[in-house]
Amino acid sequence: MKPSVWPVSETFAAEIGDLDLSQPLSEADWQMVEEAFRTYAVLVFPDQRISQQQHVDLALRFGPIDGSMVVDMTDAKSRIRADIADVSNLDWNGEIYAEDDRLRLFGHANRLWHTDSSFKKVPAKASLLFIRKIPPVGGHTEFADMRAAWDALPQARQKEIDGLVAMHSIAYSRQKMGFEMTAEENEVLPPVPQTLVRRHADSGRTSIYVASHAGEIDGMSEADGKALLAELLAFGTQRQFVYSHRWRANDLVIWDNRCTLHRGTTFDDKRWRRDAQRATVMDVAPTCEQEGIDAAAE
Ligand code: OGA
Ligand code: MN
Repeated sequence: MKPSVWPVSETFAAEIGDLDLSQPLSEADWQMVEEAFRTYAVLVFPDQRISQQQHVDLALRFGPIDGSMVVDMTDAKSRIRADIADVSNLDWNGEIYAEDDRLRLFGHANRLWHTDSSFKKVPAKASLLFIRKIPPVGGHTEFADMRAAWDALPQARQKEIDGLVAMHSIAYSRQKMGFEMTAEENEVLPPVPQTLVRRHADSGRTSIYVASHAGEIDGMSEADGKALLAELLAFGTQRQFVYSHRWRANDLVIWDNRCTLHRGTTFDDKRWRRDAQRATVMDVAPTCEQEGIDAAAE
């Protein structure tokens, strides 16, 4: 059967029906997925039964895997293979995290608007989040279209911010949630420069690139930089730019981290299991390099 594309809105988010991702994709189906990804930036594939291997194989069609940081960061045993990020509320044993579990508290920052791995030199291109188990209430994921946000910015503001560089660090987003990284963890992941405005290589569209990982703007005072970042984050996540995904068990959602933001919404994570696993794909180069900005000084 030919897969169907059901757009949520004209240009943002689409559900792809009648495609079994446990099977290798034909060239025609892959082209359809690529085109939908380029156009809609967030794709929902309902009712999938995929193994971890099939999950990773699908991610590899988009590019090389961006390894899970939590696994890099801790000696904790993992429920799942190291090239898939465990974004569930479950410990290695499959039990709900204890209230004070460090990984639980670390994961709280996923509730802030962000784009994956923008705290790494080469951030994420795409994320493929597969949900095996959902809570009965809450735990949705919201996505914001940073291309539409850019298009809606007044031209004068576009001019002012184009070419600026923000510093991103995992420590910034964690601090906002009252979580302190250790000195060793910060040494592994120091702040990195990211361009504030990106041109999307595939679609030719322009987008704002911000995140709660961003803490400063190069060449601005800390106060001015933070004010600009807060303004852009608030502007870009207004309701008209947002698609809120209500998960069904076995949904796989793929999003484009180059031009969207996302955040998890709250649920009773001490009561319900939410089993979410993410394969993440690296972008091709640091964002400043892609934009032709010399951020070598950083
Ligand atoms: C992620 C993420 C939010 C959620 O997997 O990158 O931010 O709702 N997830 O699980
Ligand atoms: Mn994320």
